[in-house]
Formats: sequence, C-alpha cells, structure tokens
Amino acid sequence: MASRINRMTVSSLALVLLALSAPLAVVGGDPDILTDYIVPASQNPTNITGEFFTYTGLSAPLSAPVPENFTVVKASMAEFPALNGQSVSYALLSYPPGSVNPTHTHPRASELLLVIQGALSVGFVDTAGKLYTSDLATGDMFVFPKGTVHWQFNQGAQPARALSGFGSAAAGLVSVPVTVFGTGIDDDVLAKSFKTDVATVQKLKAGLTPPPKKP
Ligand SMILES: *[C@@H]1O[C@H](CO)[C@@H](O)[C@H](O)[C@H]1NC(C)=O
Ligand SMILES: *[C@@H]1O[C@H](CO)[C@@H](O)[C@H](O)[C@H]1NC(C)=O
Repeated sequence: MASRINRMTVSSLALVLLALSAPLAVVGGDPDILTDYIVPASQNPTNITGEFFTYTGLSAPLSAPVPENFTVVKASMAEFPALNGQSVSYALLSYPPGSVNPTHTHPRASELLLVIQGALSVGFVDTAGKLYTSDLATGDMFVFPKGTVHWQFNQGAQPARALSGFGSAAAGLVSVPVTVFGTGIDDDVLAKSFKTDVATVQKLKAGLTPPPKKP
C-alpha cells in the first residue's frame, strides 16, 4: 500500500514537473504571455516605437519576379522579433512553373495559405491516413491542419505565389524527404521501414545529400 502511494506520489510529482516545464519546451507551442508584447533583452523598453512592430522583409521578394526555384521567405519570430509571444507569423512562397513545396509538416501550427498569384494544387494527409487535395486559383485559401504532412504543387505554366499565415511565431518545419533520407538514419532501418532494399534507400539518400563543395 505504502509503496503504491509512493509510486502515485512520484508519478504525480513527475506530471507536475512536466506541466511546469511545458511552457519552456521548444515543442510545447507558443507561450501565453502576461504582457502586451515582449521586448528583447538587448533593447531598452522606453525606446520601443512603431518601428519595432513593423517588418518590411517581404516587400522586396513580393515585388521581384518569381525566382528560378521554389522559394520561401519567412517572417517568423527569428526575422521579426516583435512576433515573440504573439502566436502568429507569415511566409511568402514562390513557385516557378512545375515546382513543388515538398511534403513537410509544421509541428507547432496550422497554416492558412492564400494564393496571391497563379494557381496551386495542394494536399494533406490526416492522422487517420486520409488524403485531401484541392486545386486553388488566385484568391483561394486552404488550411493545413497543425502537424499534418502537406505540400503544394504549381502544375501550371505560369509562376505562382502564396502567402501563408501560421498560428505560431515559430511554426517549425519538418521536411519529410530531408528528415527521412537526409539526416543519416541507418540504411537498414529505412529499408525495413519502406519495405525495400538498401540500394533503393541509398539512391533516395543520394538525391538529398548535397555533393561535396569543390575547394
Ligand atoms: C534609448 O533610451 C535611452 C534611455 O531611455 C536613451 O538615453 C537613448 O538615447 C535611447 N536610444 C535611442 C536610440 O533612442
Ligand atoms: C535552382 O535549382 C537547381 C537545381 O537544384 C540549381 O542547380 C540552381 O543553382 C538553383 N538556382 C538558384 C538560383 O538557386
């Protein structure tokens, strides 16, 4: 009996410690803040003006032509410190014809994508393994639920652009191809996971490993 209580006490204590540590965890989502905004430690709060809440980093890529390859320009907490604690951020996505934003997830946020130029085919898979796809025109929106594997594909002959809003100041990005085949996971583990052979795994890995830079 006593040992059961002890075990319960220990596990309750572990739960309390887990709950207390959760706001500090990187994967725990955005923190609830107790002030209107968070001033970086390096900045004097009395010097904060409207400039601190302004970010112009998407202006140049928005006015430039769509680049040669698929490109993401982020406006998250890392680029725009005033977003710290606000649970919002943006990314500008540019797709030349035929390009894909490869399968990926955002562990900390849902994504609301708005097509602002051209057309995109998009899709995600829910946790029950069901696939959802849609063909979007300029002005259309699509929501990718938090944590789901998703992608966008510009199948047309014209460039496309989208603006994505995230419910996190640091949504995080986990690329499926790079995470699985580009981080050094053992070939045998991958061969068994994908019900294939090591040679096939190595072929997939080769495409995601940049060739060594020439001196
Ligand atoms: C920042 O605030 C300090 C103290 O209030 C002031 O002396 C300083 O001139 C300010 N700096 C700028 C760049 O405004
Ligand atoms: C676009 O991608 C191709 C193929 O990966 C690469 O060779 C090329 O350098 C890229 N262009 C730019 C501007 O990054």
